[in-house]
Amino acid sequence: MNVTTLILDATEKLRERCGDRARYEARLLLGLAIGKQEPVYPHLFVQIEKEQIDRYYRLINERIDGKPISRIRGWKEFWSLPFKLNHATLDPRPESELLVEKAIWYARSKLLAKNEKLHLLDLGTGSGCLLLSCLHELKYAYGVGVDINKHAIQQAKENAVLLQLNERSKFFTSNWFEGIRNSRFEIILCNPPYISREDEIYLPDEVLLFDPVHALFSDKNGLADYEKIFFDLSPYLTSDGIFLLEIGYEQLEHVLEMVPNADLRVCDVFRDLRGIPRCLILCRANNKVL
Ligand SMILES: C[S@@+](CC[C@H](N)C(=O)[O-])C[C@H]1O[C@@H](n2cnc3c(N)ncnc32)[C@H](O)[C@@H]1O
Repeated sequence: MNVTTLILDATEKLRERCGDRARYEARLLLGLAIGKQEPVYPHLFVQIEKEQIDRYYRLINERIDGKPISRIRGWKEFWSLPFKLNHATLDPRPESELLVEKAIWYARSKLLAKNEKLHLLDLGTGSGCLLLSCLHELKYAYGVGVDINKHAIQQAKENAVLLQLNERSKFFTSNWFEGIRNSRFEIILCNPPYISREDEIYLPDEVLLFDPVHALFSDKNGLADYEKIFFDLSPYLTSDGIFLLEIGYEQLEHVLEMVPNADLRVCDVFRDLRGIPRCLILCRANNKVL
């Protein structure tokens, strides 16, 4: 079978699962089947062996069963950097790049003039994507990433090494702030689990079958982890520090109600590309500068 026929056949098989992306994913999976990370285009001369065709169809079937491309290849691009994933890490979402963008903007425009060395904390770090993306941009910053899951922490550590950021980052298991001793941070980032258990039935297979449960769901209509984090946060934020929090669909109003009791105040709310309020920026209630 030649490359064009293979791709056309796979595109048809993938149509129901992938819609408009079927042809692109068919090309990408063919690339993976022959040991490349790039999609294969028919005008390129590629010699394909029988066992590579067998592997291709195995990958197509995995994709038809809902396995995302990132899980099939074991890594995901985030902030233009490659992050390896394992069974315990969330597949990083593009909308979470908003937290990284705003953290970098605040660091450069508001914090760096006063603090030569910034200290960042990433709560629920997963693959480490938020913290490591920030450290990649902020060359003099140091960071700590914590997660309740030890396998996620292992993956974050590995990503730090691969991105050559291990000298400026530390990762360890902790139930939110429990394991963090006597430290204050200028920037705290957090993308906690925030999906309500009742919404489980609306989740696509890609999420429900392949993202880890501990990264997705939170009790009390998805708000329980926000409550815990707000309750403990204040002593860990420097007087001029900022807290960047990812929030879910229709959660802004509920999360805003928690802010005054946490001795915090809202500085900004940013929407994602779909127009959903996604990134909440908070500072200490008595911060006169931000
Ligand atoms: C939505 S995922 C975010 C992962 C990553 N920061 C990202 O943006 O892709 C939430 C993360 O919080 C972690 N987590 C859940 N409960 C936690 C807890 N009590 N303490 C620390 N981390 C927790 C999960 O293991 C998961 O890695």
